[in-house]
Amino acid sequence: MTQITIQTPDDWHLHFRDGDMLAETVPATARCFQRAVAMPNLVPPVTTADMVSDYKQRILAARPEGSTFEPVMTLFLTNTTSKQDIIDAKAAGALAAKLYPAGATTNSDAAVSRLDGLFPIFEEMQKQGMLLLVHGEVTAHHIDIFDREKEFIDQNMTRIVDAFPDLKVVFEHITTKDAVDFVLAASDNVAATITPQHLLLNRNDMLVGGVRPHYYCLPVLKRNIHQQALRAVVATGNKKFFLGTDSAPHEKDKKENACGCAGCYSAWSAIELYAQVFDELDALDKLEGFASQHGADFYGLPRNTTSITLVKEDWTIPAEITLPNGNPIVPFFGGETCGWKIKD
Ligand code: DOR
Ligand code: ZN
Repeated sequence: MTQITIQTPDDWHLHFRDGDMLAETVPATARCFQRAVAMPNLVPPVTTADMVSDYKQRILAARPEGSTFEPVMTLFLTNTTSKQDIIDAKAAGALAAKLYPAGATTNSDAAVSRLDGLFPIFEEMQKQGMLLLVHGEVTAHHIDIFDREKEFIDQNMTRIVDAFPDLKVVFEHITTKDAVDFVLAASDNVAATITPQHLLLNRNDMLVGGVRPHYYCLPVLKRNIHQQALRAVVATGNKKFFLGTDSAPHEKDKKENACGCAGCYSAWSAIELYAQVFDELDALDKLEGFASQHGADFYGLPRNTTSITLVKEDWTIPAEITLPNGNPIVPFFGGETCGWKIKD
């Protein structure tokens, strides 16, 4: 197959950031995605209904002329989130709330350090029909970074989904065979997003022959057996797995640094790289479900009525981009060849 037309895809997990960064990130995503779930880990985080509404307006204002792109808004959970915060955020248009274990990743210091205290909040979310989006990693210092996702499943994920069978839970950016197996075994109210980097790469790609900081993200890339489990499950077309890029921009000097930030800025090439993966898997017929249908169905939103066409054609992803503030950023796979392209 050298060309494929699919319903316009959505990105069910990304980081637009804020301020002048929106002039870069919103158009880059709106070029091919109709909707995107906007993560709330701003500084300060999006913790109230008013902050949800204001952030939505700032994203909408950054859309290119004539764009119909729509952000899907989320609330950032903290130890002090109240039931009323959930009710108000839902009324303000937030479809989901994000659980970051405190310290798990970028701008998550204000997040949840006492998970049990949040169970009444999960109960309210279940009642309100609000989705729970989970960054599934434990943060205890003594737990090896490569084991943190599996530990989270064993310590927390299992009891959350058992306690709230009607709560829709998205296990975000899964990276392990353990997570794949967990989601497959769970009820239809449990699903997962998968990023392009975790389908394309494993930890050898990041660490053998030199450290590649632009491949560093959280949860960190795992060993090959886990990458293969992710690839295998998307190739089956299972409706519980859908597209979430976790596109997360950090300026070049924050990545190429003695203590580099976690995140891959993939908005410039994500749908093309997913197409490349599905082609490699001989599963291009499953791309539309993954990219354009399963996520909308899980969120209870209509599928998009427009379409995009991808062609099998090599192009080079820009090695560097200049942000609105004048600073450079290296997009994910910058300078590398991508085998699929959006048709103009
Ligand atoms: O690599 C990551 N970057 N993982 C996350 O969970 C957060 C993100 C960011 O905000 O930079
Ligand atoms: Zn993320």
